[in-house]
Amino acid sequence: MAFGLSDRVKNIAPSPTLSIDTKTKAMIAEGIDVINLSVGEPDFGTPEVACAAGKAAIDQQFTKYTAVPGIVELRKKIAEQLATKRLSYTADDILVSSGAKHSLYNAFMALCNPGDEVILPAPYWVSYPEMIRLAEGVPVILPTDESTGFKITPAQLEAAVTAKTKVLLLNSPSNPTGAVYTPEELQALAEVVRKHDFYVISDEIYDQLVYGVEQISIASLGEDIQKRTIVINGFSKSYSMTGWRVGYLAADRAIVKAMTSFQSHTTANPASISQKAAAAALDHKDDTMVPEFRWRRDYVLERLRAMPHVSCETPTGAFYVFPNCSGTFGKSYQGHAINNCDDFAALLLEKANISLVPGSGFGSPNNFRISYATSRENLAKAMDRLEAFLREVQ
Ligand SMILES: Cc1ncc(COP(=O)(O)O)c(C=O)c1O
Repeated sequence: MAFGLSDRVKNIAPSPTLSIDTKTKAMIAEGIDVINLSVGEPDFGTPEVACAAGKAAIDQQFTKYTAVPGIVELRKKIAEQLATKRLSYTADDILVSSGAKHSLYNAFMALCNPGDEVILPAPYWVSYPEMIRLAEGVPVILPTDESTGFKITPAQLEAAVTAKTKVLLLNSPSNPTGAVYTPEELQALAEVVRKHDFYVISDEIYDQLVYGVEQISIASLGEDIQKRTIVINGFSKSYSMTGWRVGYLAADRAIVKAMTSFQSHTTANPASISQKAAAAALDHKDDTMVPEFRWRRDYVLERLRAMPHVSCETPTGAFYVFPNCSGTFGKSYQGHAINNCDDFAALLLEKANISLVPGSGFGSPNNFRISYATSRENLAKAMDRLEAFLREVQ
């Protein structure tokens, strides 16, 4: 007899973004006026057409199992959407899952053998290292900072390649930095991928949220690179559908077939109702979200740049800014020492009632993440509080 949890789950680190969120919600429940800048979801509603399609699905009893990789109607529409990004896929090259998180997990499980190395640029989204480890892969972290706009260089990638390299993870636009790779930068990285022949998992979930730059997929740079790439995307961010849980991947058909088989034994199809809503969402054209996010980004940057002890790059995508707070390290606020970004975020929450995520969870201990997916009014209040806090740091 042997009791106890598996090593697999015992070794998982809790999500730092979710734990900050939990603490924040507890403070709010106590009646404390906390401004939450830690959330990773748009503060916009799900498009009406998607809601209507979801309701119609229920009314029409579209409430049973569907095909494991998703209904053909949805996969066809996704293929059409990908074609607008110069990506050539058919419905058979697409696997719809219960959120992009699920798609990513499927991808790592399908590609990694124990000990396979996954090159992971930092700052990274918190779930990547844990998912890689769950798939028994080894995350090989490539640190980046403001000096390269939080992007890896081809030389850095080349130097990280070993005989065990299996996958390069790219996330453009990035959570948490908002950095977007240019076509030229992707081309240079693609050369290294071709030369050493490994896979790319390209998480493009923020692809529609870009400000004055073009987002392209590395997979669009040629048939050979498309064959090696698993494109990840979903409906959570671009269509404000976080709770509906619909994400997808597009890849070489043989890989999709293997992953579909894997999904058939784990979760089977994503929710039938959500699939109908997602298919309808693809007909929705929104021209308010991007300008509004852009306005907020510019506002936050302008405010931050007038504050002492912090500096901030200009992100060109997603809805995050990722300022550097290392100028506060070794200083204190009202007698409380700030030695790292965790102290900084904890003090901000406790003393200034602003909730944001320290960079440590993203593999970037000099920074912190602000999500500007909240109202202009909240942002103004939060920036006033942050400025007052920083002016007292000495
Ligand atoms: C970079 C990145 N990829 C994937 C996801 C997962 O999105 P979904 O809600 O589709 O699972 C997120 C959500 O925060 C994200 O930031």
